[in-house]
Amino acid sequence: MTALPRTVLVVGSGGREHALVRAIAASPARPRLLCAPGNAGIAEQAACHPVAADDVPGLVALARREKADFVVVGPEVPLALGLVDALAGAGIAAYGPKADGARLEASKIYTKEILQKYRIPTAPARFFPGAPEALAWLAGHSGPIVVKADGLAAGKGVVVARDRAEAEAGVRALSQLGGQLLLEDCISGEETSILVVVSGRDYVILPVAQDHKRAGEGDTGPNTGGMGAFSPADVVTSELMARIEREIVKPSVDAIAEEGIDFRGTLFIGLMLTASGPQVLEYNTRFGDPETQAILPRLATDVLALLWAAARGGLGGFRLEVRPAAALCVVIAARGYPGSYPKGRAIGLPAPGQLPPGTAILHAGTARDAEGRVVSAGGRVLGVVALAPTLQAAADRAYAACAQVDYADKYFRRDIGARQLRRR
Ligand code: GLY
Repeated sequence: MTALPRTVLVVGSGGREHALVRAIAASPARPRLLCAPGNAGIAEQAACHPVAADDVPGLVALARREKADFVVVGPEVPLALGLVDALAGAGIAAYGPKADGARLEASKIYTKEILQKYRIPTAPARFFPGAPEALAWLAGHSGPIVVKADGLAAGKGVVVARDRAEAEAGVRALSQLGGQLLLEDCISGEETSILVVVSGRDYVILPVAQDHKRAGEGDTGPNTGGMGAFSPADVVTSELMARIEREIVKPSVDAIAEEGIDFRGTLFIGLMLTASGPQVLEYNTRFGDPETQAILPRLATDVLALLWAAARGGLGGFRLEVRPAAALCVVIAARGYPGSYPKGRAIGLPAPGQLPPGTAILHAGTARDAEGRVVSAGGRVLGVVALAPTLQAAADRAYAACAQVDYADKYFRRDIGARQLRRR
């Protein structure tokens, strides 16, 4: 493998990017770290530059100016806009797929066509150019159905409808986003997130995580970007993982290569574990948020070396070292999220030395105000992460740290990991 990069630019501003910055900062290579645009927490470990994550020319210019020799792209939008293609044109290595690979997240219809073509297990779906055609099909349907917008929708492009009336409302709402629509059969089971670091036909499967997508406890309320995550997910036994690799991961990686895509980045496979086996709900082409916050602390591997090897095409034979510990992330959101919520509210944080052992507070939607105080600047504000010998201990530590955060709009679910803990 070529020498590790000396200057690394991380693109994005959320909890996922803070987790990536922390992991890369821990590399023995001790790279100089930059982030664009970053947040108040990331700024403590990386030099943050006010370039938006979707400003492709601005990011390429920043990488050039700062002599970044590696760019790690967090969010999906710059990937879909061709940031990695533009960086390649400028001779700068990057972790993340080019636009052709990012289409696997940017178009749900394209993904469904790939899944069907390569016979990878997934729910049947039909595609419609717009609302009138979808509503006409629904007239002959009863029972639950999933309505999806084809394009990127920042986590707001899926409605799980219990009946025709909800489905019709979902079609009307999602048609406002523009673009095509999918109506997909409803499948049930537990959802799980399989993150795979891919480099062509080589891949490394990261420890399995589970996310909590609904805003309310007991998985109720509206869908969010994710209210918490934990790893490992015991529901995926080693036998089931072998089946997932055989039936889903390897066929997916091979299918992408077969389509002529040189994918170098994270293939995040959203799975439903149904009674008849695992089925693909979606592909994302980036690290999950907040799954990443719960996965990276479990890696004893040098994360920079892993991402660099994937980007450079040297992943074959890479051995991942995973700590035999559990990690759990509780997202602290602004009350009102995913609807409207206030910004600019003061946040009092405990000093790192006051936190329970093994915990860290990752920043997501935060900024500094004119007086230099940390304030809220987004819907998901913080991610409180704990690593401990057991999931129960990780949950206890994370919730103890949540109680130390002084923030008037603080809202978090108190049942992250509860289903797995109850099973035990
Ligand atoms: N946690 C779900 C996602 O990152 O899309």
